[in-house]
Amino acid sequence: MLEQINRLLAQAESAITAVTTTEALEAYRVEYLVRKGAIASLFDQLRSVPPAEKPGVGKALNELRTRVQQLYDAKAAELRSPGPAAERTLDLTLPGRRGFTGTRHPLTRTMDEIISIFVGMGFGIADGPELEDDYHNFEALNFPPDHPARDMQDTFFVSKTALLRTHTSPVQIRVMKEHRPPVRVIMPGRVYRNEAVSARSLSAFYQIEGLYVDKGVTFSELKGTLVAFARQFYGRDIKFRFVPSFFPFTEPSAEMYITCFLCKGKGCRMCKHTGWLEVLGCGMVDPNVFRNVGYDPDEVTGYAFGMGIDRTAALRYGVDDLRLFYESDIRFLNQF
Ligand code: DAH
Repeated sequence: MLEQINRLLAQAESAITAVTTTEALEAYRVEYLVRKGAIASLFDQLRSVPPAEKPGVGKALNELRTRVQQLYDAKAAELRSPGPAAERTLDLTLPGRRGFTGTRHPLTRTMDEIISIFVGMGFGIADGPELEDDYHNFEALNFPPDHPARDMQDTFFVSKTALLRTHTSPVQIRVMKEHRPPVRVIMPGRVYRNEAVSARSLSAFYQIEGLYVDKGVTFSELKGTLVAFARQFYGRDIKFRFVPSFFPFTEPSAEMYITCFLCKGKGCRMCKHTGWLEVLGCGMVDPNVFRNVGYDPDEVTGYAFGMGIDRTAALRYGVDDLRLFYESDIRFLNQF
């Protein structure tokens, strides 16, 4: 009898290893564990065992039943959870997954760098709304109604008087209306122009505006400040020149050029073979602008300047298509 028990145990132990489905497990249960199963029928034979052997055989039978029940329970748990299968596919020798750190967008970097140079010179920072009105964007900046200078900037009108600002210069008006002189601020922000988008022009882009108003501010201070800026931003040994220009809100007005840093002034595609790059517009604040904000032009003078960030970043990094800055192509952005 004990021999029979051991044989059945060995059989049950080997049979459980072949079980891989719930159907096979159910067949296993029917074979061994139900009331008419193999173990139960051994219990039936217990009656015919001589009384002296009964305790030993009974104990062995109980152990057999417990053991087979355990095998069954363990297999049932294994089939229920995907755990063991997943563990088998875990390869600890594979290299780990690398986290990817983002970088700042080239426009943000350019903007931050320009801001920090001017902050280092004592400028504060101000901003204003992108949805402007005709008064701040044009009129107060000395663009008379129907003046052709308005055509310099193709405008997105939202209503008869509301528009998307075409430059950051209206922030000058807002700052001066809020604060008495002296005023020394830079004003970064997004601006909009109703222009066909191409490699060289965008309908939405960024500018930085600068304004310094105090008693006795001169044009040579304007030049000194901008040259100091350009040397820090573009490099110690750039050459520069100021060319007379026109803006309604400054008088006199100028454009600043620096020697092309790609060809060092010899002439190339980037500088359109002139050797010079235009980097910003500037000038002395027009007395009419001061009157519009309630400053006395006999008391104070001031300078202003404005530059496009996108164009500046393109020059800086040698990018020949401004649209690339807005396409969010990771292959482009990864290079900065
Ligand atoms: N607002 C001008 C533009 O968008 C740029 C500019 C020129 C700003 C001269 C100024 C300035 O403050 O003085 O084209």
